[in-house]
Amino acid sequence: MNTFEDIKNRRSVRTFDGEPLADGMAESILACARAAENPYALPIEWCLLSAKRDGLSVPVIVGADTYLAGKMKAEPHAEEAFGYSFEHVVLTAQSLGIGTTIIAGTMDRAGFERAVGLAEGEVMPCVSPLGCPAKKLSVREAMMRKGVKADSRLPFEELFFDGSFDKPLTPEGAGVLRQPLEAVRLAPSAVNKQPWRVVLCGDYAHFYEQPSKERTGWDIQKVDIGIAMCHFVTALHELGGTATFALDDPGLNAPQGAVYIASYRVQ
Ligand SMILES: Cc1cc2nc3c(=O)[nH]c(=O)nc-3n(C[C@H](O)[C@H](O)[C@H](O)COP(=O)(O)O)c2cc1C
Repeated sequence: MNTFEDIKNRRSVRTFDGEPLADGMAESILACARAAENPYALPIEWCLLSAKRDGLSVPVIVGADTYLAGKMKAEPHAEEAFGYSFEHVVLTAQSLGIGTTIIAGTMDRAGFERAVGLAEGEVMPCVSPLGCPAKKLSVREAMMRKGVKADSRLPFEELFFDGSFDKPLTPEGAGVLRQPLEAVRLAPSAVNKQPWRVVLCGDYAHFYEQPSKERTGWDIQKVDIGIAMCHFVTALHELGGTATFALDDPGLNAPQGAVYIASYRVQ
């Protein structure tokens, strides 16, 4: 598995070839999800659903029947934990040639929540279709990609900082962390808002969320930050580095609205 290549090549797939997955493939992905860790060690319960069998509808997806869904207790850090684990599965699927799209909004949520047996106090943040990508995008998918500028990302210097938020970090200035931070930059996010910001201070990479609007309660953009942390750690591991997770707000002066999420000590 060449993770950075998988990160570069991954895109959300909404048009599939209409064929069932190869025998055992969905079960392998389910096993990968069940084994996926997250830095908060929060348990997630995973299952496979069939759109036909379970009567589910996802208007943006064409040609796939199998869905991966996860649910967990609604508790602090559930969003980041879920995003981290889910993205690990997305990258594994990518390495196996299986297309995915993380879906939180454009689906029959009530139907999915019924199908996973969601109980009081639980959340089912996102689901994803699993299938072989079609050769050509549907017109709707092409329009959706254009609408959210899905092929572009904010520049490195707007996302990453050197010591403090008033000192933008260049790719050259990032040294050995250039590729792990580029992996963060390329991560998928809800409506492609890329709410992650990272400040490097000595051995530490401090992750912040710059939310696109003020929120109380459930925050889908924290799922994005979990995804970004997964990209960072995975790309760093590929280079032989280690990242030690810490929840220890360094108290930096942060821009209006930015929220501290977590840190990694990099070695
Ligand atoms: C947390 C999250 C929620 C998302 N929800 C949806 C959704 O409801 N419907 C959809 O079509 N795409 C959804 N996406 C996919 C994003 O639109 C997509 O990742 C982004 O536009 C970047 O495109 P890319 O994944 O092809 O790089 C979601 C992505 C994330 C990370």
